[in-house]
Amino acid sequence: MITNEKLMHYIGGHFHEIGGACQKQIFNSVDIVNGFQKDNSISGSIAEIGVRDGKFLIGLSFMLSSDEKLAAIDLFEKQDLNIYRSGWRPPEHGLPFFRTYKTLRY
Ligand SMILES: C[S@@+](CC[C@H](N)C(=O)[O-])C[C@H]1O[C@@H](n2cnc3c(N)ncnc32)[C@H](O)[C@@H]1O
Repeated sequence: MITNEKLMHYIGGHFHEIGGACQKQIFNSVDIVNGFQKDNSISGSIAEIGVRDGKFLIGLSFMLSSDEKLAAIDLFEKQDLNIYRSGWRPPEHGLPFFRTYKTLRY
């Protein structure tokens, strides 16, 4: 069971409106790992490579402590370099959600 209330709220709501390849079950593992790190005073920033609309990235943002940063790495508009043709869309698709979730600092 997921313990992070903000993450629970996201999964129950906006998560379903954002395009992408992220399955909500992944957050069970993310929450467990995050709990272990917090219990053991392990800190550090987070990076995701291949963010598309930010569906997974927004969920990850709820794991951040105030002194940690979140990095989003993608080819973005340089899709001619995307050998998987896995699909990226212009920022207007994801940015409204980034703005909704103020935990994201970009
Ligand atoms: C399947 S989507 C990722 C889905 C996303 N993680 C989510 O939560 O929905 C793949 C993304 O990887 C990016 N990508 C593909 N090749 C890449 C590369 N070599 N370096 C960085 N990003 C890459 C694409 O632009 C696309 O946004």
